[in-house]
Amino acid sequence: MKITLKASINPRNSLLIIPLFEDEDIAKLLPKQLASFAGILKKEKDFKGKQGQTFALTPLSEKLPGQVLFLGMGKENKIDGTAARVAAANATSLARHHHAGTLAFFLQPAFKKYQQELAEGFILADYNPARFQTGKNKKKNQKAEVKTVEIITSTTDRKQLQKGQTIAQAVNAARELVNAPHNFMDTEMLTREAGKIARENKLKVTVLNKKQLQKLKMGALLGVNKGSAKGANLVILEHRPARLKSGKGGKNPKAPKPIILVGKGVTFDSGGYNLKSGPWFADMKMDMSGAAVVMHVLALCSKLNIPHHVIGIAPITDNLIDKDAQKVCDIVVSYSGKTIEVNNTDAEGRLILCDAISYAIDKYKPRMIIDIATLTGACIVALGERYAGIFGNNQEIIYGLKRAGEQTDELAWPMPIHPDHSKEMKSRIADLQNVNYGSQGMAGACTAAAFLQEFVGKTEWAHLDIAGTSFVKHPKKYEHQMATGYGVRLLVKFLESL
Ligand code: BES
Ligand code: MN
Ligand code: ZN
Repeated sequence: MKITLKASINPRNSLLIIPLFEDEDIAKLLPKQLASFAGILKKEKDFKGKQGQTFALTPLSEKLPGQVLFLGMGKENKIDGTAARVAAANATSLARHHHAGTLAFFLQPAFKKYQQELAEGFILADYNPARFQTGKNKKKNQKAEVKTVEIITSTTDRKQLQKGQTIAQAVNAARELVNAPHNFMDTEMLTREAGKIARENKLKVTVLNKKQLQKLKMGALLGVNKGSAKGANLVILEHRPARLKSGKGGKNPKAPKPIILVGKGVTFDSGGYNLKSGPWFADMKMDMSGAAVVMHVLALCSKLNIPHHVIGIAPITDNLIDKDAQKVCDIVVSYSGKTIEVNNTDAEGRLILCDAISYAIDKYKPRMIIDIATLTGACIVALGERYAGIFGNNQEIIYGLKRAGEQTDELAWPMPIHPDHSKEMKSRIADLQNVNYGSQGMAGACTAAAFLQEFVGKTEWAHLDIAGTSFVKHPKKYEHQMATGYGVRLLVKFLESL
């Protein structure tokens, strides 16, 4: 989809969408070409510009697009970024519905400061998850595609629009990685994608393969990988603005410490010997959402010139069954040296994350570390699909993430870690256990976070549990069923706030 700015209405566009606020005096608003509509609209008693109302007109003039649609926006003083994103998404689905091909969108003055959000809405709504369709269905989808959006406005500054476009394209790319089934996105393929992202965005990339992970003694990550026909990888992407490059000899003691993002990259989670059952099993190609998000946040760090040293780390493996697969109650020695009793092979996320987190702290001494993971079904039970859970040991980061979530409509809610949650993760025969069986899954999202906290020490840390938000059955207007790309926009906004 291409988004352009146009000073006047192009009659070749098949659809023109004009957002209208409640009880707005349109006579003042409408451009000359449309002035005659003011009278018609005034007579239309039912259409008041209420939220969700639409009113269609078919102009019989060659100087106008084939169809004009007025889109009710509700009260003008309620307009914010989220409303702009939703308005653009609604316009896109209407255009798809009408097979419009090109869409003209009249820019209300109240929307002028939300051009980034509008671009996001257009492009996020335009995402097509059906890339594996063929034949008739594919054609039908292609026919509905909105090729260009022309925004009707006197402004010519494309900066905000461009930014929204760049961000939304990254979100769609992350969705694409998540929606690909395991046979199209296994450990090697996801690792290759990271390499591609690095090349395209001039990021430094390091891939530690299974052999290197064995040398480093990442026993928790490797334990999960034991049932796999593929290797495990630890992918590291690094964005370092020139201004923060270390000086002569690579050492600049004044260079600020990096911010580290860690994303869970389980390419398919069968549960292992604690085999999954139930409806969520079918969704488990999504268990690398955290990794996909981190990879595309790093891409955006480069594209948007984020002025911080940011490192993205993704531990990648699948979690399968095989004669060699990790058995229930195996004891593994993690990279940190702490021993873990694996009393549930399905609680694999915390195992691969704890090694990635310990390694990140050990190697980079980061200023802060944020992990993002589809970690627990319990988080979905607690918060559903609209809120991710935020955990951590630093209120400033937790509330910074919450605020970034409000600004991007990627909502997240602070959740507790009680000392008793941590106690429950102690094992009688090892340092830790990965599941607290006695408690029958009570506070499962909290105990998972408590487990991770055992590995962060004094480092400032937050953890986002995105099990509910990253892959949905009830999408928002600018989402589709399945992958949402949740977290890309939130994390970029958070990094911008630092
Ligand atoms: N990947 C799952 C969490 C998940 C579940 C994400 C449903 C999305 C939808 C994770 O690895 C897992 O299996 N967690 C277990 C933990 C339990 C064994 C303590 C869970 O939530 O059931
Ligand atoms: Mn699992
Ligand atoms: Zn998992």
